[in-house]
Amino acid sequence: MAITPPEQRLWWKEPIAKTELVWITVAFLWGLVMFFMMIYWHGVGEQNLSNEAYRIDADKFSARTEAMVAKYTVRKEGKNETPVVRPPPGSDVYLIARLWEWYPILELEKNQSYRLHISSLDWQHGFSLQPVNINLQIHPGYEMVVNLKPNQAGQFSIVCNEFCGIGHHTMIGRIHVLDKM
Ligand code: CUA
Repeated sequence: MAITPPEQRLWWKEPIAKTELVWITVAFLWGLVMFFMMIYWHGVGEQNLSNEAYRIDADKFSARTEAMVAKYTVRKEGKNETPVVRPPPGSDVYLIARLWEWYPILELEKNQSYRLHISSLDWQHGFSLQPVNINLQIHPGYEMVVNLKPNQAGQFSIVCNEFCGIGHHTMIGRIHVLDKM
């Protein structure tokens, strides 16, 4: 920043220096490239998901999740006795993010489609599915809906990647994908 005023008071009427013009052009074109890369990576990179978001209140989301848990729990897992839920293929599946857990544990079948709804009951959390690295922001008052079709069997972890307080690092969930149920 200059500490003295410009010599010409009407400095903005002077022609733009050539190097500055070059940099403005480069920055503008790069911005355009990055913009179109977002669209390209949506299709090719399989990282930016096609998802939907709807307003929903916490009580309603919680009730829908509990209804699914009551109907399809097959066993309990871990020291918190978290229910493991095996919803039928094609159904609506619910996942709660809250301080500090992902609830419940889901058990899904490979190559079957599910409609996964995720919402937070308190404040913002980050859904990060590992090791495949799929990321979603989870906000209270909204549900994220993703059409999910697991293409590999195994055990997947859900890590919270949005700092949410003292128990943030313990907020780890799980999805089991089975070859055949
Ligand atoms: Cu939830 Cu960090």
